[in-house]
Amino acid sequence: MTDEQRQNRPIGIFDSGVGGLTVAAEVMRLLPGENIVYFGDVGRYPYGGRSREIITGFTRQNINFLLDHNVKYVIAACNSASAVALEAVSEEYDIDILGVIEPGAKAAISYSKNKRVGIIGTRATIDSDSYAKAIQRRNENIKVFSLACPLFVPLVEEAYIEKEATYLIARDYLKTLIDVDIDTLVLGCTHYPLLKKVIGTVMGDGVRLVDSAEETAREVASVLSVRNLLRTATDDVTLKFYVSDVPDRFSQVVKHFVGRNINNVTRVDITRY
Ligand code: DGL
Repeated sequence: MTDEQRQNRPIGIFDSGVGGLTVAAEVMRLLPGENIVYFGDVGRYPYGGRSREIITGFTRQNINFLLDHNVKYVIAACNSASAVALEAVSEEYDIDILGVIEPGAKAAISYSKNKRVGIIGTRATIDSDSYAKAIQRRNENIKVFSLACPLFVPLVEEAYIEKEATYLIARDYLKTLIDVDIDTLVLGCTHYPLLKKVIGTVMGDGVRLVDSAEETAREVASVLSVRNLLRTATDDVTLKFYVSDVPDRFSQVVKHFVGRNINNVTRVDITRY
C-alpha cells in the first residue's frame, strides 16, 4: 500500500449515540482532510449506567464494525466505553485505539496549578476510577475528586442546555466540588461540553474546564502526523455515519454538532459484529 492509500483510509469513531459527535466535530475541525466513519450505538444507548461486562461486549462489536470499514485508526469517543472497556479490549486488536481518558487526563495535569482536579462523568466512568488512575500514574501528587452527574446526559439529550432546571441540578451536583477547592475540572462525558456555560458559571472563573473532545482531537492529530498517516487534502472528503436503530433522530441532531447536513445515515445490525 502506498503512503497515500494509507492516509486515505478513514478514521473510525464510535460512541453510544450522538454524544461522540462532539469528538467527531473537533476532529473534523482540526483535521478537515480526514475521511471519517462514525458509528453511534443509539439502539443500545445509554452506556453510562451499564456494567463493565455489557459495555465491554458492546465496545468489541463497535470496533469490529469499524474495522470492517478499513479504518486506519479508531477513536473510542465514549467516555464510559473508554473508561471501563478499552484497556482490556485494545489488547485484542492490532490497530491502535485511542480513548478519551488519556488525552483528558494529560490536559488536566498540565492545566492544574494547585494540583487539585475534579472529574465529572457517568456512573460507569466514575466508578471505574479511570481518570484518577490515568492522572495519578503520571503525577501522584495530584489530588483527584470524582463525581458522577448522571442527570446531565438526559438534560442535554432533551436540549435542556441553559434552562433554570439545568442550573439547579448543576448547582446541586457540583457543590461538593466547589467545597474542595479544585482549579481544573474534566468534563468526562461526551455530552458535558454542551453544558460548558452552565458548569463554568456554577464552578466560577477560578476553575478551568477540560474538554476531552478537544484534547482527544489534538492527540489524534499528533499521533497521525508522527505516523505519516495524516490526510491533508480537503477535497473529496467522505463522512459516513452509521447507527444501530432508526436514524431519524440522529440525522436531526448531527447537523447541530457538525455544522452541515448529513443525508446518509445508515442503520446497521451491530449484533452481527
Ligand atoms: N457517551 C457516554 C459517555 O461519554 C454518555 C452517554 C451514555 O451514557 O451512553 O460516557
